[in-house]
Amino acid sequence: MKALSCLLLLCSFPLLAETGFQPVSGSEYLSPQMREMQEDDFANPGMETVDYGRELFHRVDEEGHRCAECHGEEGRGLNLARIASYPIYDPEQERPITLQDQVNICREERMDNFPLVYDCKELVGLETYLKYLARGQVIAVQTDGPMKPFYEEGKRLYHQRFGQMEMACFLCHDQHRGAWLRGQRLNQGQSNGFPVYRLSTSRITSLHRRFSECLASFRAEPFLPGSDEYINLEVYVNARGNGLKIETPAIRD
Ligand code: HEC
Ligand code: HEC
Repeated sequence: MKALSCLLLLCSFPLLAETGFQPVSGSEYLSPQMREMQEDDFANPGMETVDYGRELFHRVDEEGHRCAECHGEEGRGLNLARIASYPIYDPEQERPITLQDQVNICREERMDNFPLVYDCKELVGLETYLKYLARGQVIAVQTDGPMKPFYEEGKRLYHQRFGQMEMACFLCHDQHRGAWLRGQRLNQGQSNGFPVYRLSTSRITSLHRRFSECLASFRAEPFLPGSDEYINLEVYVNARGNGLKIETPAIRD
């Protein structure tokens, strides 16, 4: 802990007032080579997951249904602005639902199929494809009305200290952003590029997995993908990036 906090303090940036907060995409912190790779669909390794998601979207399932039958070939009938506003409030469940939850709702209620396990390969594939279709859409997550308590709970978690090292999300991503930590430059921890392809692990990484990776990096106990804690955190983290454009699939270290 000592070494870590020293490291953070040594290279820390001046504290920025919450009011002056301007969201900045993690892509702004990339090297020019990685940025080029991200922006070139032929070089971007995340495109493999986009193609997998596209294939699932058009595939006829065991019940004879496919996503494209309602949402159009290549998802041309999808409401892309809506995709950029998840998590959205679901009056039936009286809670926010994520894009992965939405896919499961469509499967269960409209395709007579069983829901898939949160963050499984298929859901992450479909999510990556849907976000890719919505690339360039401006993130606009509701934070008032029925969303307010969930946003506030996510904000509380973001500022809560976890584990023996007593680290909190905001310490790295608000107070020390721009600093270097173990060879990585701390960015704002924005979600607009998710699911992202991580070069260090050679795999596509969902937002909830990234939350777990961050918690594990300072030896705190992760929550489960799809848990209330992660969904509330997603509400807060996505809303913190309101105004940024979707960049899925982004490339990260
Ligand atoms: C039988 C028709 C039907 C099928 C099949 C279907 N959906 Fe939907 N889907 C809908 C409807 C209707 C809505 C609007 C829901 C609402 O407003 O509450 C919707 C909403 C959505 C949305 C939110 C964006 C938007 O355009 O409203 C996404 C994303 C989505 N579906 C993905 C999928 C995926 C992925 C599949 C395949 C696994 C799928 N859907 C299968 C009918 C369908
Ligand atoms: C000890 C410092 C530290 C803490 C505390 C921390 N993170 Fe991170 N986080 C990182 C580093 C380092 C990265 C990788 C930076 C990069 O993507 O280049 C990262 C990346 C992220 C990203 C991906 C950003 C992007 O552009 O791809 C998200 C989202 C994120 N963190 C959320 C969280 C959340 C939520 C918490 C609290 C549960 C948290 N982090 C706690 C260090 C931390």
